[in-house]
Amino acid sequence: VSIRRAEMQDLQHMQHCNLWCLPENYTFKYYLYHGMVWQSLLYVAEDNIIYQQINKQYISKQIIINKQINNKSLTQINYEQNSGRIVGYVLAKQDEEDEEGSKLEHGHITSLSVLRTHRKLGLANKVMQSTHRDMDKIFESHYVSLHVRVSNRAALGLYRDKLGYETFDTEEKYYADDENAYNMRKWFRKKP
Ligand code: ACO
Repeated sequence: VSIRRAEMQDLQHMQHCNLWCLPENYTFKYYLYHGMVWQSLLYVAEDNIIYQQINKQYISKQIIINKQINNKSLTQINYEQNSGRIVGYVLAKQDEEDEEGSKLEHGHITSLSVLRTHRKLGLANKVMQSTHRDMDKIFESHYVSLHVRVSNRAALGLYRDKLGYETFDTEEKYYADDENAYNMRKWFRKKP
């Protein structure tokens, strides 16, 4: 599995990966916006072996998992088109203004996910570190922010323990099902 910058033709596959993994989904237009404006911050994990050999067994395994975990009919059709090529992604952008109204240039992680079949291999860690590097070096961001469900143990383990994010705030009923979100930040430069 290799990590690389996303290209425009990856956006659809990133969307498919998102549909598989998260209840927070976005219109394709929103992916296009990220791709056109913030392409240097978008990274994907690509399973080259699956792409080259299109292993039928692998695809049917994915469909079985799909039936067990997700009853959205869209995802099954999409996955067959995807053929397992993009197995993880980070969708990110830059923001100039933050919640406090101060003009501190900062990055924001819109969405991150890795297919179940490819988890615990360090892929999320790698795509996150790649986008962090660009936010820091290219955009000279002061910090990067994100929202995460308070119950998301795996993501919290990654953000807090592995990547050094701190909880900035808790936002009540942030998600559509009323779950609270941690608003987290990782600082690249000294806090003002
Ligand atoms: N339980 C506890 N900690 C975990 C778990 C887990 N199941 N999975 C990962 N971690 C932590 C560990 O600290 C791990 O380090 P270690 O392997 O040395 O113990 C670290 O995260 C890095 O793990 P990776 O292998 O890089 O993570 P992975 O590629 O498996 O992806 C992710 C983690 C993205 C959270 C994945 O589980 C996933 O896609 N989940 C569903 C979608 C999701 O929740 N996305 C985040 C939503 S928030 C947002 O998008 C801004």
